[in-house]
Amino acid sequence: MDRAGGKKDMDFREEFLKYKKEKNAVLLAHFYQVGEIQDIADFVGDSLGLAQKASEVDADIIVFAGVHFMAETAKILNPDTKVLLPDMEAGCSLAESCPPGDFKKFKEKHPDHIVISYINCTAAIKTMSDVICTSSNAKQIVESFPQEQKIIFAPDKNLGAYINNVTGRDMVLWDGTCEVHDVLETEAVIKLKLKNPDAKLIAHPECKSAVLELADFVGSTTAMLNFTKTDKSKKYVVATETGILHQMRKESPDKQFIIVPTDETCSCNDCPYMKLNTMQKLYLCLKNERPEIVLSEETIEQAKKPIEKMLEISRRMKLI
Ligand code: 13P
Ligand code: SF4
Repeated sequence: MDRAGGKKDMDFREEFLKYKKEKNAVLLAHFYQVGEIQDIADFVGDSLGLAQKASEVDADIIVFAGVHFMAETAKILNPDTKVLLPDMEAGCSLAESCPPGDFKKFKEKHPDHIVISYINCTAAIKTMSDVICTSSNAKQIVESFPQEQKIIFAPDKNLGAYINNVTGRDMVLWDGTCEVHDVLETEAVIKLKLKNPDAKLIAHPECKSAVLELADFVGSTTAMLNFTKTDKSKKYVVATETGILHQMRKESPDKQFIIVPTDETCSCNDCPYMKLNTMQKLYLCLKNERPEIVLSEETIEQAKKPIEKMLEISRRMKLI
């Protein structure tokens, strides 16, 4: 079917790829993008992999097929490169749950605590953080501090509670959640497990603790993908966003993946922000070189420190 300007999806892809070459651009995509975008990306990964890649990219333009905080992170780590986000409305409920003014007051109430922030937060929150983490390295980042160190963990209370549980810490948690993962319920998981007794349950740590307690494996998108590649089972019940199934099916075509439904009628756990990116928007943003991520030098300088600390710890622990 024809879209705006008379171009078909196929044309948008071809035109985008043509501009990518001409303009010395790279496309970085998160696992929650639609399959057609993942398939043309120079790199597809989870938040940690994308941050690392963004810091290394040697190009004139990064087109970021993900959400705003990820593109911001890319700009902070690679400030001389133009970073484009196809749709500026691609936000994140976790990042939005933590307004800088409120977080500043929260921090002031806990003056003897350091701040570990999940990468799913705004650049302003990063400037108030001692170190950043992702779901791939949260446990190791927390454990890089002495047991007695007092810690504020923001903004995801589910990931924070999970890390408290596995590390025996008592971090103070900011009350934020991911609107995609937090709605997955144990009832739906149990129903699927009863229907598929031969399946293993794999879950992202942004899910509620009751769901995580039922899981055979808990991990970031990359960790879950690697698990399904090496594990012996043939069937998995997957508690996360639907986009990751694209890579799981590509990597293990002989295995079956069943997504945990959000309710009785829908198995469509699509992140509404991630899915704002389309082939047409990718093409338009590279053609027009906007919308562009713009940050002040001061924000870049302050936000870079905790992200680089995360990358340095991750390198040391051989996580990247
Ligand atoms: P990871 O990419 O770190 O697994 O996080 C998932 C997510 O929700 C990204 O927004
Ligand atoms: Fe944010 Fe959740 Fe969407 Fe990830 S899946 S971008 S955490 S709303």
